Amino acid sequence: MRVLEARNLTSGYGETDILHDVSIKLDEKEIVSIIGPNGAGKSTLLKTIFGILRPSQGVIELQGEEITGLSPDKIVRKGMSYVPQVDNVFPSLTIQENLEMGAFVRTDDYRDRLQEVYALFPLLKERRNQKVGSLSGGQRQMVAMGRALMLDPKVLLLDEPSASLAPLLVEMIFEKIVDINKTGVAIVVVEQNARETLKISDRGYVLAMGRKVFEDTGKAILENKEVGKLYLGG
Ligand SMILES: Nc1ncnc2c1ncn2[C@@H]1O[C@H](COP(=O)(O)OP(=O)(O)OP(=O)(O)O)[C@@H](O)[C@H]1O
Ligand SMILES: [Mg+2]
Repeated sequence: MRVLEARNLTSGYGETDILHDVSIKLDEKEIVSIIGPNGAGKSTLLKTIFGILRPSQGVIELQGEEITGLSPDKIVRKGMSYVPQVDNVFPSLTIQENLEMGAFVRTDDYRDRLQEVYALFPLLKERRNQKVGSLSGGQRQMVAMGRALMLDPKVLLLDEPSASLAPLLVEMIFEKIVDINKTGVAIVVVEQNARETLKISDRGYVLAMGRKVFEDTGKAILENKEVGKLYLGG
């Protein structure tokens, strides 16, 4: 079943279009990656899908329902969460307070969900009363992902979750992405660590200069010599 589909998106900032006619889809249970050089428009694509930017053209559907032009607070209520590339936690709050902020639109009791999120990230439970500003980069990223999971989303958008982390932590973050996916969340992940990401991805899209230039299974992209040379550093 299709959980997310963006068709022919054109979008940008002010008068300037950055993305041109980009289409992507995500099925239930999938991990799909978006890779491409700096400035390709990867973050712009996620921001457009999540309603932070309004596309000048194109349609976005979440679980079969059109969400084009809806604001992020409406979109989260419909089952899609987003972890931005930067400023994705509240450093002056504790871990638990950050997670509770993620449940802000819930009107029901979120305590069960909090325990499920802690089950995915035991370390966060251990340190739940610690201020997030005192955590390492990898731990902060876990908080950001945990916060996004508090609404029990069907679809999760991750922008560069492993950015600027040491190799061991990069591996840990990818393991967490797989764990989250196994709980039934379909995931779109934007990444600089393209090879690592493609290894855990069912499918991938390559963006360059605001356009989709290639798409295939994660495995096929990894094996494609031309794509490797152009976009995966040889
Ligand atoms: N707030 C903004 N206002 C104007 N232009 C922007 C803004 N944010 C990004 N851009 C421009 O849009 C283009 C695409 O940026 P985007 O952040 O989507 O790229 P990216 O693929 O995510 O790159 P990176 O790998 O560096 O994160 C770039 O040319 C960038 O300068
Ligand atoms: Mg980006």
